[in-house]
Amino acid sequence: MTDASTGRRRLAATLEAAGALDAQWRDAILAVPRHLFLPDVYWATTTEYVKVDRTSTPDGWMGYAYQDVPIVTQWDDGACTGEQVPTSSASMPTMVATMLRHLEVQPGGTVLEIGTGTGYNAGLLAHRLGGTNVVTVEVDPDVADQARKALAEADLHPQVITGDGAHGWPGDAPYDRVLATCSVIDIPQAWIAQTRPGGIIVTPVGTLFGGGALAKLTVGPDGTASGPFVGSSAFMLLRQQRYQAPPVDDYLPGEWPGDAGASLTSLDPEAIGDDWLAQFVIGLQLPDVYYRRTPNGDGWTWWLFDTGVTSWATVDSTPGDAEFDVRQSGPRRLWDEIETAYQWWTGAGRPGFERFGLTVDQDGGRPWLDRPGNPVRAR
Ligand SMILES: C[S@@+](CC[C@H](N)C(=O)[O-])C[C@H]1O[C@@H](n2cnc3c(N)ncnc32)[C@H](O)[C@@H]1O
Repeated sequence: MTDASTGRRRLAATLEAAGALDAQWRDAILAVPRHLFLPDVYWATTTEYVKVDRTSTPDGWMGYAYQDVPIVTQWDDGACTGEQVPTSSASMPTMVATMLRHLEVQPGGTVLEIGTGTGYNAGLLAHRLGGTNVVTVEVDPDVADQARKALAEADLHPQVITGDGAHGWPGDAPYDRVLATCSVIDIPQAWIAQTRPGGIIVTPVGTLFGGGALAKLTVGPDGTASGPFVGSSAFMLLRQQRYQAPPVDDYLPGEWPGDAGASLTSLDPEAIGDDWLAQFVIGLQLPDVYYRRTPNGDGWTWWLFDTGVTSWATVDSTPGDAEFDVRQSGPRRLWDEIETAYQWWTGAGRPGFERFGLTVDQDGGRPWLDRPGNPVRAR
């Protein structure tokens, strides 16, 4: 059976080999026992969810605790124990280490973490900076309670707040660093207001259309935050920013295709569906457009909608076809907009996550390519 300290050494070596571990975080990874933060039953995320029960498979349970895999600890906000939508987890260790590296904490610095989850990451921060310098906010009371217990057992003492992290935690602001371990579509103004000028915010950013990337923003003296994306990310969304799509009937009250105009496209929407970066770049350009897929024969029908509920489109994707049927209805031609956004990206040489960035001010976020003066928004 893997003993925990061997597990931690192995994990540190894995993170080092992946280039994720900053030398200054090595001691914390070696010292903080990840298994203490995990429940007796969890789901290791490999190519599928593997349910692991400590009672029946103690070796497997301890083994996964120190592997480089995300571990789901809650489904559906705790409403069920089945495998529906994961809503809390211990993040993948390489991602944890990568985010901590980008946070660039300094001795004596203060950190606000949003999304306590298991408490493991808050434990790493508390080990490095001291518990009094770390505040972590968790929206789910049961998850927060579990984290408090685990942190106490590990003799680590950050302040764990039960509350909505979208508001940050004004009580101890300003902070030198803000780290979110759930993703956002819009960066809450409170996070910027509660970060000291010159401070850094590290947060996963998703788009309504899909895809996600880690943003590393520096807060300016004027209260704006700006900086690059530093790599791909895939996190569960901040609860308050989950999008509740209206029923399809609100877009198309009668039978499909209604009044939709017909055309053909040579761009297979599945090429976008398979590409996390392409989804992210389209989502940056078209922040109010989302899609759903429904099975259709051997393939899929893509349904495209705008949040203003003015327009919809469908595209049928059948494997092997060279052209695909498009229907578009409403004042916007949503598929045409997506094709334009996709072609802008391919025409620019398919720039990767790291060439994009984000500036956030009182008016919201403006994504850019290469430099803040080069916005990517099509509309
Ligand atoms: C990926 S988990 C966090 C992983 C965690 N940092 C760890 O070390 O285990 C994301 C967490 O964010 C929490 N969350 C979602 N929305 C939130 C909000 N508005 N405020 C605070 N926490 C939130 C979820 O309940 C979940 O526990």
